[in-house]
Amino acid sequence: MNEVKAVFPGSFDPITNGHLDVLRRATRLFPVVTIAVLHNARKQGKHLFTLEERLEMLSEITADMPGVRVESFGGLLVDYMRTSGSSVIVRGLRAVSDYEYELQIAHLNRQMYPQAETIFIMAATRWSYVSSSMVRELASYGADISKMVPEASARALYRKFAEQYPGQQ
Ligand code: PNS
Repeated sequence: MNEVKAVFPGSFDPITNGHLDVLRRATRLFPVVTIAVLHNARKQGKHLFTLEERLEMLSEITADMPGVRVESFGGLLVDYMRTSGSSVIVRGLRAVSDYEYELQIAHLNRQMYPQAETIFIMAATRWSYVSSSMVRELASYGADISKMVPEASARALYRKFAEQYPGQQ
């Protein structure tokens, strides 16, 4: 049997402890999980971190996870899956509100690429309130986000906001 290739796609702007929890649990299901970081030329400027910064952070954070690879993709996820021979999409769910959006995307992806099977992993309840956007917002005001994100994300956030608003913190 061919090895199933799983991808964990996202913006990871930045990766949170919720993402990491889902990723860790996905590695127990699949021998290799590739984090596929969205590089969206159309969304340039919409991400806080550049693609290079996000890839660097993810590589550092997952360095001790042997089954994890980090790659980037642009355009449609299903096109990336076709070219990389992947068939499983791993997505995390925090609450029912995530499910409605994710269900639609899962159906759309499978319509475009019938081999694509989406697997949802429920993030641990302790992370149910954590999102990259909330963490960015909190960090921009200098709040302590160290319990919500891996250390490399926290460092990068504080560095980024110190560059953007020098002298504020
Ligand atoms: O971390 P995010 O922002 O929730 O991740 C969303 C992501 C990157 C998985 C999704 O937006 C995506 O797959 N984008 C690539 C474009 C695409 O394939 N769109 C089709 C579904 S609308």
